[in-house]
Amino acid sequence: MPDNTKRLAQELIVNDKVSVIAGFEITPAAMVVAPLATEAKVVELVMAAGTSIITEKSPYIARTSFTLPQSSVIIADWAAKNKIKKVVTIVSDYAPGADAEKSFSERFKAGGGTIAEAIKVPLANPDFAPFLQRAADAKPDAIFIFVPSGQGATFMKQFAERGLDKAGIKLIGPGDVTDDDLLPQMGDAVLGVVTAHMYSADHPSAKNKAYVAAFEKANNFRPNFMSVGGYDGMHLIYEALKKTGGKADGDSLIAAMKGMKWESPRGPISIDPETRDIVQNIYMRKVEKKNGQLYNVEFQTFPDVKDFGKIKK
Ligand code: PHB
Repeated sequence: MPDNTKRLAQELIVNDKVSVIAGFEITPAAMVVAPLATEAKVVELVMAAGTSIITEKSPYIARTSFTLPQSSVIIADWAAKNKIKKVVTIVSDYAPGADAEKSFSERFKAGGGTIAEAIKVPLANPDFAPFLQRAADAKPDAIFIFVPSGQGATFMKQFAERGLDKAGIKLIGPGDVTDDDLLPQMGDAVLGVVTAHMYSADHPSAKNKAYVAAFEKANNFRPNFMSVGGYDGMHLIYEALKKTGGKADGDSLIAAMKGMKWESPRGPISIDPETRDIVQNIYMRKVEKKNGQLYNVEFQTFPDVKDFGKIKK
C-alpha cells in the first residue's frame, strides 16, 4: 500500500504538478510521501493520520487531523483520577498504536496506575477474541483500546460476545473505537464507554449542527472524526491561498498555513506555527443514548491541546 501511495504521489507531483498533496488516512502513507514533499517543495497536508512524528518528517507537512498522544494523555489522567488502578492496553500493531500505548502508559503510571499487560493486535483483518480473553484473565479495572477508524464495530462485537461489558471491565481509550459513523450499529454493549477525542457528531455548537445536517443529507450516514479532518484541511488550503494571493509554491503556502486559526465543527482549532501540527480541544465523552440513538456525549473540555508527543520532558 505505501509503495502504491508513493508512486501515485510521484505522478501527481511530477506529471500533474500539483501544489498540494492531501489526504493520508494511514500513517505509513503519510510517511512515504514526506521525502517527496521535501524534495519538490510541495505542501503535504495530513488530513487523517495520527502518529505524532509525521509532521517532523518534512518542513512542508501540516496536519488537520489529530495525534494519538493528544487524546491518550488526557484519558490517562481521567483514568488515574477515576478509580481505575489496573489497566490492560490493546492496540493495533503499527505506529499510531505504539504512540497511543506509550503516551497512555507513561502518563497513567506517573498518576499511580499499573499496566497489567500491553497487547498488540495485527492491523489487517484482526480477530480480537484471543486478545480479549487474555485481557480479561488479567482482571483489570479497564481495557485501554486503540483500533483505527473502521475497526471499532468488530472490536465492540467481540467485546460483547465475550461478556466483557457485563464483567465490570471498563473500556477506555482515544475515540477511534467509538467512531461516529459506526456507533449507531454497535449495540448497547458500547453504552458507558469513555473516550477522549477531538470530534463528536454530538458536539453542541451551531457550526457542528449545520455540518452534521449537511453531511447526513449528502451521505445518509453520520460524519466522523476523519470527515472533519478532511473538511478543515480543505478550509486550510482555501484560506492559505487567499492569504498568498494565489501563490501556491510550497514555501509561500506553508508559511500562510502557520498560525492559521478558525472555528471547526469540532470547536476552535489552529495550526501551531512552530510544529505545523494541529492545536485543538480534546473532549472527554461517554457513550449515551439520546432520542434512542448512540452518541459520544461530551462532558469535559480540555482547551487548546498541543501534541504531547512533541512536548519535550
Ligand atoms: C493512522 O495514523 O494510521 C491512523 C490513526 C488513527 C485512526 C486511523 C488511522 O483512527
